[in-house]
Amino acid sequence: MRTRPLKVALLGCGVVGSEVARIMTTHADDLAARIGAPVELAGVAVRRPSKVREGIDPNLVTTDATALVKRGDIDVVVEVIGGIEPARALITTAFEHGASVVSANKALLAQDGAALHAAAEEHGRDLYYEAAVAGAIPLIRPLRESLAGDKVNRVLGIVNGTTNFILDKMDSTGAGYQEALDEATALGYAEADPTADVEGFDAAAKAAILAGIAFHTRVRLDDVYREGMTEVTAADFASAKEMGCTIKLLAICERAADGGSVTARVHPAMIPLSHPLASVRGAYNAVFVESDASGQLMFYGPGAGGSPTASAVLGDLVAVCRNRLNGATGPGESAYAALPVSPMGDVVTRYHISLDVADKPGVLAQVATVFAEHGVSIDTVRQQGKDGEASLVVVTHRASDASLTGTVAALRKLDTVRGVASIMRVEGE
Ligand code: HSE
Repeated sequence: MRTRPLKVALLGCGVVGSEVARIMTTHADDLAARIGAPVELAGVAVRRPSKVREGIDPNLVTTDATALVKRGDIDVVVEVIGGIEPARALITTAFEHGASVVSANKALLAQDGAALHAAAEEHGRDLYYEAAVAGAIPLIRPLRESLAGDKVNRVLGIVNGTTNFILDKMDSTGAGYQEALDEATALGYAEADPTADVEGFDAAAKAAILAGIAFHTRVRLDDVYREGMTEVTAADFASAKEMGCTIKLLAICERAADGGSVTARVHPAMIPLSHPLASVRGAYNAVFVESDASGQLMFYGPGAGGSPTASAVLGDLVAVCRNRLNGATGPGESAYAALPVSPMGDVVTRYHISLDVADKPGVLAQVATVFAEHGVSIDTVRQQGKDGEASLVVVTHRASDASLTGTVAALRKLDTVRGVASIMRVEGE
């Protein structure tokens, strides 16, 4: 074993960074044996240097992250500060000064992954980011390496623990969205500002990363259709139950049937209780990958939290250090397929539409005609009338999102349709 240590700079020492430092210390011997050289924490960049950080030598702590990544003797920079800047500038500077990078930064990778990969390649360094998607769950490496010989057609999953916790609460207790969110906040699952999670931005960033790797195509955050889950109601869950379904916030990346394009989207959807994703409870994540040769694979586990995320960071650190010792680099960006990313209107799926209508002769026929005129075939209709008004639930066969949007716009124009109470896609069948 080499005795000269590989030097690691840690950018950020919050929930994840402090766990990375702790595991680097407590597992030092095992890490050295697995890598073939010791790894040394050479510096820790933080915002608040006065904060006491157990187990971290105060002499290593600095507020000057730029100077740390420019030192020239750093082998690997671990970036766990998140956000776009200064993370992007620091990672680019790290490559320019000879370091490889391990990052957990989904927002940055989803927005600027191509440029960062190019910078890594230009300088002959690695960029690894297993921790950016679904915490501890191995997904990036299986897609980049284990499935490199297969053809992935679909990635479907729950990639945000906060929203899964909220939806699971609504499902199991009948609570409304706000009540379930309040509980998630009180228990520390939801942040004080939960927007990134509940509006689907976090999941959309992860979907962009997964789609890019799965389909060997550049997919940016802007390419991902996104709907949050703040409008999901207790009534939606009641409807889902009547259909033998539950509701999950799903990230869905698909290759079109003709193979010529891909789509990526995040939105709440009904899935049958018999689908394995329906039984993913609490803050857990799970991702289904469907490939030509492998068939269906499912990856499950804790998608967030200091220790699980640090596990993924440490796995990358070991891989990057091994590459470094071998004078090699691991897989870089693979975007050779360059498939177009189609808009949401091209997505084909099933829909559950709940309408408030007048309960009088001819209304059902009028509504059915609108569906027919837009080429959307109805699978089931359920009606419940009360005092001259009725609620009408229509479940469609597979149709394009554009046809469904046209149908709903036309339904809203009918005098007899008082309102469209909810529209939800039905997946996993
Ligand atoms: N906020 C995310 C979640 C974890 O709730 O899953 C970090 O991506």
